[in-house]
Amino acid sequence: MKTIFNLALIVSTVGLLLNCAQYNPHLTSTPGGSVWKFLPDYIPAPREFADNPVTPEKVELGRRLFYEKKLSGNGQMACAGCHIQKKAFADGLTVPAGTTGQLHPRNSMSLVNLAFVPVLTWGNPLMRRLHTQALVPIFGENPVELGLTGNENQFLEQMRSDADYLRLYKIAFPDHTDKVTMETTVLALEAFQRSLFSFNSAADKFEHGNTSALSESAKRGLNLFFSEKMECFHCHGGINFTSSIDTALHAEPEIDFSNNGLYNVDGNGAYPTGNTGIHEVTGRAADMGKFKAPTLRNIEVSAPYMHDGSIATLEAVVEHYARGGTLTPSGPKAGDGATNPFKSSFVAGFSATTQEKEDLVNYLKSLTDCDFLTNKNFSNPFPEGHANNNNSSLNQLEITHPCYENP
Ligand code: HEC
Ligand code: HEC
Repeated sequence: MKTIFNLALIVSTVGLLLNCAQYNPHLTSTPGGSVWKFLPDYIPAPREFADNPVTPEKVELGRRLFYEKKLSGNGQMACAGCHIQKKAFADGLTVPAGTTGQLHPRNSMSLVNLAFVPVLTWGNPLMRRLHTQALVPIFGENPVELGLTGNENQFLEQMRSDADYLRLYKIAFPDHTDKVTMETTVLALEAFQRSLFSFNSAADKFEHGNTSALSESAKRGLNLFFSEKMECFHCHGGINFTSSIDTALHAEPEIDFSNNGLYNVDGNGAYPTGNTGIHEVTGRAADMGKFKAPTLRNIEVSAPYMHDGSIATLEAVVEHYARGGTLTPSGPKAGDGATNPFKSSFVAGFSATTQEKEDLVNYLKSLTDCDFLTNKNFSNPFPEGHANNNNSSLNQLEITHPCYENP
């Protein structure tokens, strides 16, 4: 996957606005004039990128492109094939397959508050911008995801000859001489993804004064989450429940990777080949098994968990941390992650009662934001039955959650 980094020289982004008054009553605009609507007033504005200011026009184009299957080699798959809104833009699979059927070594990530996420994917310190990251699924060959390589001119011709798309590219990129290019395509995808805000969960409502937003169990879970006994907050704290964070107020983005004791295949701390975390990029022995601690917002709906989708439920995640790492009894990944020498000291294990574990899970579930999961500004813009909105496998997904019961 790293082989295509050199493809990734494009310009890029920030700012934003859409019109959805019911989404969030707290609107805020930064002194610079760019408007980050939908952000509660207690959330700082995201960092602005002068090379790709977020505008509603780019967001709208980017949203179409995110759901556009023509962006793939065989015309069958879009970004949304692996990033499904109802699953917080994850996909519910252990690992996904791309257009050629090749499996990805990693679990599809949720896409939540990406305007505040300074480092992208599970474990790549160099992957810093969304427009660059988008090139990986579009052109990557190991694994093939959308598999557009060789067909990019055909894709751009299709965009140019479609009156709607042509209009959208023109108004989104008035200052670009060439309106319809791969560069403007990924800049628009960046803008759309930077508009995916989620700050309206029960935990947020509780935090900001609604004392009845959380059950008694979830309130106990909150205290456990932020306790020195369970230590979760060290790596999953802050406004986005992750230690990798950036805002307009940060002098520098905060970027953090850690080994949480998932594997230990050789007794000396090794992770399974092909999934060794930032070690793959840095080559440093001490970076073995270090991954980004992802956001825990909407974690309830983005199962299965971890970089390889190896943990099925939140209950099992809590057991992993209580034990201080995962024991894999047999098979090629056998070993005891709890004794991994590269493991963070914050994953030391803890003893907790069944009730406490349940409380912690209930708190994690209170990070689900129904507004985010059902926000029409993020959903498929194509009419039902349209080639870009007829994926039977998506329709078959069984998703039962109170968020979807009263649309
Ligand atoms: C075949 C499935 C698949 C497709 C198609 C796909 N993705 Fe992903 N996406 C993934 C996987 C798997 C990861 C984790 C990759 C890794 O860690 O190396 C990921 C990670 C991401 C991330 C990082 C999120 C974070 O929090 O760090 C972003 C952003 C993203 N994808 C955007 C896109 C966009 C935009 C497209 C379309 C251009 C797209 N994806 C197409 C599977 C897919
Ligand atoms: C030392 C930092 C650290 C601590 C402490 C920590 N985590 Fe994590 N967490 C991580 C990392 C890193 C990952 C990704 C690991 C991987 O995929 O190999 C992760 C993954 C997760 C995931 C899966 C996320 C996803 O999208 O698949 C959940 C859920 C989670 N942690 C919950 C917790 C809870 C609950 C606690 C406290 C009991 C906790 N974490 C403590 C670093 C930490």
